[in-house]
Amino acid sequence: MPDTHASTLETLMTAIRKAVGDRGLLTDPNDTDPYAEDWRRLYRGHAAAVVRPADTQELAAVVRLCGEAGVSIVPQGGNTSMVGGATPNANRTQIILSLARMNHVMQIDPVDMTLTLQAGVTLKAAQVAAADAGCLLPLSISSEGSAQIGGVLATNAGGNNTVRYGNARDLVLGLEVVLPDGEIWNGMRRLRKDNTGYCLRQLFCGSEGTLGIITAAVLKLAPQPREMAVALCAMPSPEAALDLFSRFQAHDAAAVQAFEYMSGPGMGFVTAHIPGAHVPLAEPAAHYVLVELATPRPNAGLRAAMEQVLEQALEDGVVTDAAIAESEAQRAAIWRLREEHSEAQKREGASVKNDVSVPVSKVPELIRRATMACETLMPGIRPVPFGHMGDGNIHFNLEQPIGADPTWFLAQDHAIMDAVNEVVRDLDGSFSAEHGIGQLKPYMMEDWRGGAELATMQRIKAALDPKGIMNPGKVLP
Ligand code: MLT
Ligand code: ZN
Repeated sequence: MPDTHASTLETLMTAIRKAVGDRGLLTDPNDTDPYAEDWRRLYRGHAAAVVRPADTQELAAVVRLCGEAGVSIVPQGGNTSMVGGATPNANRTQIILSLARMNHVMQIDPVDMTLTLQAGVTLKAAQVAAADAGCLLPLSISSEGSAQIGGVLATNAGGNNTVRYGNARDLVLGLEVVLPDGEIWNGMRRLRKDNTGYCLRQLFCGSEGTLGIITAAVLKLAPQPREMAVALCAMPSPEAALDLFSRFQAHDAAAVQAFEYMSGPGMGFVTAHIPGAHVPLAEPAAHYVLVELATPRPNAGLRAAMEQVLEQALEDGVVTDAAIAESEAQRAAIWRLREEHSEAQKREGASVKNDVSVPVSKVPELIRRATMACETLMPGIRPVPFGHMGDGNIHFNLEQPIGADPTWFLAQDHAIMDAVNEVVRDLDGSFSAEHGIGQLKPYMMEDWRGGAELATMQRIKAALDPKGIMNPGKVLP
């Protein structure tokens, strides 16, 4: 590091310590390094410091100081990015701005059906706060115990209930954002209608910290379900899974809260690596579906509806076996089989992720063609497609061939992702459905979003962050 930069950083640290106090600043590499590695362990960065402001004013002061010093900022929530979105570079020249101390739920209004909270509240804590007030925060992702609201919104997370309630951005009524020059934008409105020019809150959702830092939000809540029914089904094929989805949609589309696909090999990894995981069906299957029905309507007879649709599907050979949860514990156990998919793949070895989407009707074709493409590219590779079939969003993950060197395998990631993406493009899909771009996928942006779309994004970035201090190297190539 050149001396001038070292002394700039030293001066900056003194000023930041004054702004946030000793509690708000970590500079010892033993303390900062755990923040600088991503959940997947694909990126190991090193930060000059981790700054943990106590409130928006402190955070804004830090952003202003960094802007003046020309030091860039990597905002970080629960550090659960799948694409290295919250990991700094390795030069100890960037600071991580952690929202972890800004973790207060400020207000729940059961009449307006809104939840007002700071960005550092975990998604799980936000769900619990909503449930305590008799409401539902209808966003659920596997990492919800760690993921924080700010990160969830900044990355426009999707998850398990998108089929019914939409993505994170669909739940946002208001935002507070610290802009790259340190100014605070207070857009904490909780209006269902507010048609007043460009929709700034939607600009920050999905911006991945490249345009500003979300510090608080107002979220839309939904009525809490009165009835729920969850089933795990063994399926003969991806086509049958699509057929079953259509049957539930035709029966009562408003009740379908989740419709998740899993493959036989993926389920095998879960039962092998996750203690206590057990598939409640007689035989292992080549494909599985988890379907969850829920409704706030009283006496809706969901359990009977679930049985009716499944019985007919069994009779028609669309489903080969099914287990309906009889208790909350069984429901949780079925969901665990789905939610531990990523963790189980991590324990099995190196894996390359493809978070892709296609029109729902094309999911079976995606699974078949991408499987073929990857097996042709690398004999022995193990496809583990799973995910949010009801949204057309499949995590087309690939596990390393048995016995292959993990480092060698991960070095092939671009070739593997390109092979899957070729199929995705042919099916009019997207190369990133819900995980965002981070530092893993900016190189794809020119190819997929180049021209007027990418140029507009670059102009917005240049206008809001002319010094380029906000999460550089992420999203834009
Ligand atoms: C999930 O839905 O569990 C995650 O988004 C998927 C992943 O690990 O690719
Ligand atoms: Zn997912």
